[in-house]
Amino acid sequence: MVNSIETKQLTLSYGDSIVLKELDVEITEGEITVFIGGNGCGKSTLLRSIARLLKPMSGAVLLEGKEIAKQSTKDIAKKMAILPQSHSVPEGLTVLQLVKQGRFPYQNWLKQWTREDEEEVLQAIRVTGLESLKDRSVDSLSGGQRQRAWIAMTLAQDTSIILLDEPTTYLDLTHQIEILDLLYQLNQTEKRTILMVLHDINLASRYAHSIIAIKNQKVYGKGKPEEVITSDLVKKVFDLDCDIVGDPIFGTPMVIPHGKGRRIK
Ligand SMILES: Nc1ncnc2c1ncn2[C@@H]1O[C@H](COP(=O)(O)OP(=O)(O)OP(=O)(O)O)[C@@H](O)[C@H]1O
Ligand SMILES: [Mg+2]
Repeated sequence: MVNSIETKQLTLSYGDSIVLKELDVEITEGEITVFIGGNGCGKSTLLRSIARLLKPMSGAVLLEGKEIAKQSTKDIAKKMAILPQSHSVPEGLTVLQLVKQGRFPYQNWLKQWTREDEEEVLQAIRVTGLESLKDRSVDSLSGGQRQRAWIAMTLAQDTSIILLDEPTTYLDLTHQIEILDLLYQLNQTEKRTILMVLHDINLASRYAHSIIAIKNQKVYGKGKPEEVITSDLVKKVFDLDCDIVGDPIFGTPMVIPHGKGRRIK
């Protein structure tokens, strides 16, 4: 197995405050990997550093064996697209204009907009179900529609590695499944490497080949969902009591949280 992405003794911080310490993480090429962990444990920080949006305090991120710090922004953008957790758009920018921005790594003063660019953009709009909204301004859309527009931009970049920070936030259940199915299909048919942050462990268990759980500045557990997701891990990583059962459809681990609530049995 090849590692598309590797971190070597990676320490990430904001000023003096360390978020993740001496992390050695390997992301296998052609797999779907999901980061899980409590709010504030550093998932977004790690994803952003892998996309070179954040400089390490020490250590390195390797992309296909080469340090990303030594690669150009455009070269990285041709290999890796990122959907950040929060984003803002200039007022009045349309869905089509936003999605077209995904093609920037392929443009230069010699090569202007091509038919291939056009096709990638239209396809990304189609698979995210945004055809009827493509001329609307992004700031006029609902949260879920806006999230889909950002996902479309990420897909238009047509990279072999896709990083997504909570791509299903704001989406209704139908669209959550649709987006995860789409990512799964891109992984299965085109062997794209997908690395994402998800809060829904049950969905993560269905779609991920590998889960990486983060807690206390470190990787707490890593491996196949059926090996990693145990009530012990959920207790330690999320401080939550739960039962783990088999997903009735997929057989993958399903977390049933304890806690209060209206009992009918
Ligand atoms: N720009 C920043 N400046 C200073 N501290 C930050 C910054 N961004 C994040 N942090 C801090 O770093 C820590 C990790 O944040 P991060 O956003 O990576 O968490 P997360 O795991 O993605 O959480 P969530 O599940 O809430 O998205 C938190 O304590 C957060 O307050
Ligand atoms: Mg986050």
